[in-house]
Amino acid sequence: MITIKNLTKNYGNLTAVDDLSLQIEEGEVFGLLGPNGAGKTTTIRMLCCLISKTSGTAILNDLSIDNKKDCLEIRKMIGLLPENVGLYESMTAYKNLDFYAKLYQCPENKRKERIEYYLKMLDLWGKKDVVVGTFSKGMKQKLAIARTLVHEPKILFMDEPTANLDPEATKMVRDFILELKKEKRTIFLNTHMLDEAERICDRVGILNTHLIAIGSPDELGRSLWGKKSVVIVDTVTDIILKGIKSLGFEKIVVDNNKMTIDVNDPHHDNPSIIRAIQDAGGQIQSISELVPSLEDVYLKEIRRNE
Ligand SMILES: Nc1ncnc2c1ncn2[C@@H]1O[C@H](COP(=O)(O)OP(=O)(O)OP(=O)(O)O)[C@@H](O)[C@H]1O
Ligand SMILES: [Mg+2]
Repeated sequence: MITIKNLTKNYGNLTAVDDLSLQIEEGEVFGLLGPNGAGKTTTIRMLCCLISKTSGTAILNDLSIDNKKDCLEIRKMIGLLPENVGLYESMTAYKNLDFYAKLYQCPENKRKERIEYYLKMLDLWGKKDVVVGTFSKGMKQKLAIARTLVHEPKILFMDEPTANLDPEATKMVRDFILELKKEKRTIFLNTHMLDEAERICDRVGILNTHLIAIGSPDELGRSLWGKKSVVIVDTVTDIILKGIKSLGFEKIVVDNNKMTIDVNDPHHDNPSIIRAIQDAGGQIQSISELVPSLEDVYLKEIRRNE
């Protein structure tokens, strides 16, 4: 579990992260979204004890970033995929991982087992003896992900894990993160990819120096628009609209044969709406719930905050 309380970082006169408070549960995948310069990397760096905070605090599984001894333990417990992956270019893929695992004092048999496991998982086993300097950006990114995991950390920090990856590798990494979630690891990731956050995160926070929204992608969507049902009929008539309004649903937007109706609870309200349309002689072609995307929420919150 990660508990962040009033965490703030100033660089001189510039406040990079302002009064951030949030809690991340064990086994949760949490995504931090925000524009360039929003303070996402700064947040991760403070949580990993790589830079000092200005004020506030954070506790990672009972260890405090305020305490020097705890910071050493935090570094052992976490895995960090940094923004700039920083591998040893003159070493092979295998040696990079082996070097890192040795630093973490993984016993030799475990080291071998894990390195093989992660290189195979990330489709790099065939390149294990190739010098990393010759790798493409995406291959380096995947190797850095393996490096993040080789000491089996309980908490993972990933700063834009799918940056530089092609669509196939992006999917591989996302599926991989979901596999890690099944192992009950806590994952904190920074991303610009809203569809990525929507697909893999249990909750997301939108950061723009300070936290401007937090919730599950679904909750954030609903907080933006409330709930709406979209009904497509053969023809929208005045009688149909009157029938629906008589149920108390006054806000209806009509677009050709599509009606978007503000409701309280689609599961409860849709059956009576369907009946009213049928009673008014309408033919229903489809009915669905309108859920705004994380992109809608993100853009609205960021613009409101500017
Ligand atoms: N070492 C530093 N010295 C001074 N200012 C810094 C330093 N590191 C970051 N900043 C500033 O802090 C702010 C937040 O930067 P940060 O890298 O955390 O943003 P980010 O959300 O990760 O952005 P991006 O999406 O571009 O990676 C920026 O204004 C940046 O210029
Ligand atoms: Mg960053």
